[in-house]
Amino acid sequence: MAPRRLRDGRVHALLALLLLLLLLWPPVTRGTTCPTPTSVEHADIRVKSYNVNSRERYVCNSGFKRKAGTSSLIQCVLNETTNIAHWTTPNLKCILTISTSVSTFCTVLVMLLLLWCFRSRQTSQPPAVEVERMEVMPMTPGTSSREEEDTGIY
Ligand SMILES: *[C@@H]1O[C@H](CO)[C@@H](O)[C@H](O)[C@H]1NC(C)=O
Repeated sequence: MAPRRLRDGRVHALLALLLLLLLLWPPVTRGTTCPTPTSVEHADIRVKSYNVNSRERYVCNSGFKRKAGTSSLIQCVLNETTNIAHWTTPNLKCILTISTSVSTFCTVLVMLLLLWCFRSRQTSQPPAVEVERMEVMPMTPGTSSREEEDTGIY
């Protein structure tokens, strides 16, 4: 009786150990998760899952956009030989948006236009009239132009 009871006890202990292993095992396998992904310049990533096969996306910072031909996607993959999970290397390039450069260009253009308007107002005479006068001036005597100015006053 005694040896049989001992055997039963061993069986129970073994079953308990197996149960304990089964309870502990899943977190161990789940332990093969990916680390924090590498940082990409001018981009951020919010990882929802670090598990194997998880696909995550980088998002370019404001004022930047994804360069054509580059991918913002990475995936957590398991290296079968080493049993180590790692993210696929991102080839994402975040470049300055066109809107930013366009707005800068427009600002410069508007400033130049304002400057040009201000300068043309200061001269007060449209260039076409000035050319006409210069053509006329050598033909007429210097006094006539002065007379014109005098009559203008009265
Ligand atoms: C797994 O890792 C080893 C050692 O780092 C490496 O040599 C091998 O190329 C990797 N395999 C794959 C499929 O990435």
